[in-house]
Amino acid sequence: MAISPQRTRPSEPNELVPLDYFSELPLEQFFDPDRAFEIDLGCGDGKFVLEMAQHYPERNFLSVERLLGRVRKVCRRSKNLGLKNLKVLRLESLYTLEWLLPAEAADRIHLLCPDPWPKAKHHRRRLFQEPFLNAVTRVLKGGGELLFKTDHPDYYDWSVEHLDSFARLEKSPWTEGDFFYPKTDFQLQWEAEGKTLQGLRARKSVN
Ligand SMILES: C[S@@+](CC[C@H](N)C(=O)[O-])C[C@H]1O[C@@H](n2cnc3c(N)ncnc32)[C@H](O)[C@@H]1O
Repeated sequence: MAISPQRTRPSEPNELVPLDYFSELPLEQFFDPDRAFEIDLGCGDGKFVLEMAQHYPERNFLSVERLLGRVRKVCRRSKNLGLKNLKVLRLESLYTLEWLLPAEAADRIHLLCPDPWPKAKHHRRRLFQEPFLNAVTRVLKGGGELLFKTDHPDYYDWSVEHLDSFARLEKSPWTEGDFFYPKTDFQLQWEAEGKTLQGLRARKSVN
């Protein structure tokens, strides 16, 4: 019986496809290590990261998203814009931080409008809790920052509580307009519905 050839999904332009999903990524093969490096977790349709990559051509960006349709959309837009400093990884955010990215790699990690899992029985699925904060701290450089926004007041309070009991990241103030920070697709959607977003900014100490 003839054996049919193995099928492989073709990668998208600007998609980062690890050769080995079980080992640390050799980041220097994909990004210049001398440049600042930022990660957008759960990038969705990518409006935020695409604007950031255009605004900061001297910085490198990795967007992480688990849905293939969204990954394809961001890759297509990134190609049309001719961006050389953005790569898209189709993978789960916590796994990426825990197992794929090297330690002390990122200057900033963005987690914007993540799923709030509002029902109490689903709270354990929320990303913003100790394993995530441990993984963020591992991947951030000393002095690096986690930036988080949510439209969900209960998820915001939950995140403040988790951050306050986590000694290795220190909350810092974040006033709208402090620095260039484009709105995400979901932020625009929530604001159009009259909702207000709350943001958290947390810094890893230098030593
Ligand atoms: C509510 S949307 C927000 C998208 C974007 N950050 C924005 O603000 O427009 C959440 C996105 O995160 C993705 N996502 C949720 N959990 C994820 C996970 N654990 N790993 C990777 N992507 C995830 C979803 O597929 C979705 O695209």
